[in-house]
Amino acid sequence: MKILVTGGTGYIGSHTCVELLNNDYEVVIIDNLENSNIGVLDKIKQLTGKDIKFYENDCRDKEALRKIFSENKIDAVIHFAGYKAVGESVEKPIKYYENNIQTTLSLLEVMQEYNCNRIVFSSTATVYGRPEEKDGKVLPFKEIDKVGDTENPYATTKYFIERILKDTYISNNNLEVVILRYFNPIGAHESGLIGENPNGRPNNLMPYILKVANKELPYLNIFGNDYNTKDGTGVRDYLHVVDLAKGHIKALEHIKNGVNIYNLGTGIGYSVLDIVNTFEKVNNIKLDYKITERRKGDIAEYFSDPTKALNELNWKAEKTIEDMCRDSYNFIKNFKK
Ligand code: NAD
Ligand code: UFG
Repeated sequence: MKILVTGGTGYIGSHTCVELLNNDYEVVIIDNLENSNIGVLDKIKQLTGKDIKFYENDCRDKEALRKIFSENKIDAVIHFAGYKAVGESVEKPIKYYENNIQTTLSLLEVMQEYNCNRIVFSSTATVYGRPEEKDGKVLPFKEIDKVGDTENPYATTKYFIERILKDTYISNNNLEVVILRYFNPIGAHESGLIGENPNGRPNNLMPYILKVANKELPYLNIFGNDYNTKDGTGVRDYLHVVDLAKGHIKALEHIKNGVNIYNLGTGIGYSVLDIVNTFEKVNNIKLDYKITERRKGDIAEYFSDPTKALNELNWKAEKTIEDMCRDSYNFIKNFKK
């Protein structure tokens, strides 16, 4: 099977390409390299011994997509390409709506022209909004929970794309769509060859910790320790990016007619302090931090119910929080572009 991976040189895309190649899929990538580096292709080759066909193009560009579909018999698409910075999406909503939605529309249009009916889409836990509570305890998000009460334009783009995929299916019942709602991917390939190293000041917790560990930033700001959580700091469902990548293989194996939605998470919530303490322990390193004000728009605690992915895709996250912290640091210590 030949898979078109949009955004395939990015963080989750690159790990997914490794898993695809290791499972004997052929891979074609389209990426405009806006948030990734061409050097990733060599690293994927080094890890798998296999080649990837690469198109440096914008996924909004329908002519470029037509060229790819006419030169390659694409059996399915995994659609990662898009912007993902929550804070920036609040500052520049049009940029986010334009890229995230237009990439998807162009792709769906050209897929239809070439009779390609399979797509796996990267959605996010943030489509759910705030979790419900029962007897003072936060309930895990289930796929049937209400979505759309989003907190920022980034999350809204993902909610809209989910709707676009559902409407497209209504118009074309041959479509096979899997929507994967990722919780918080961290970690890196255990080889240390690929991982996540954003330019500039990171927004997310693990990339920020890595800059502090690498002495590029002086200390971590922990955004609030007065939440109603086990230690007062925010709680999230972190999952290893390699487990997440494997979820895409399972999605392709089990893809079927209709629009099927799965949470990909571990089902376990860890606090910011859990992550800091585990990172220090497994890497034998001290992380300086300061408790600062809560970050605007943050939710105290949420995590997944991953049962549906286990029952229907036979997928379960295997790696521990220790693996995530160790592999993240191993990547950054060895980082070369
Ligand atoms: P990433 O930025 O590392 O990868 C995205 C890739 O898409 C980059 O290589 C970028 O150059 C490319 N790209 C962006 N716009 C493009 C366009 N118009 N045409 C072609 N290429 C384009 O991000 P990631 O962390 O790998 O995330 C992948 C997907 O998963 C995104 O859709 C993101 O919204 C979603 N997601 C990520 C997270 C997370 O925490 N990382 C959580 C939930 C969902
Ligand atoms: N945090 C800090 N200091 C930092 C960064 C984060 O204390 O410097 C805290 C946050 O307050 C939060 C936790 O660490 O409690 C995780 O924050 P992240 O920014 O790493 O992740 P978010 O849960 O805010 O959001 C991320 C991605 C979204 C994605 C979502 C899926 O940014 O794109 O996970 O759950 F949709």
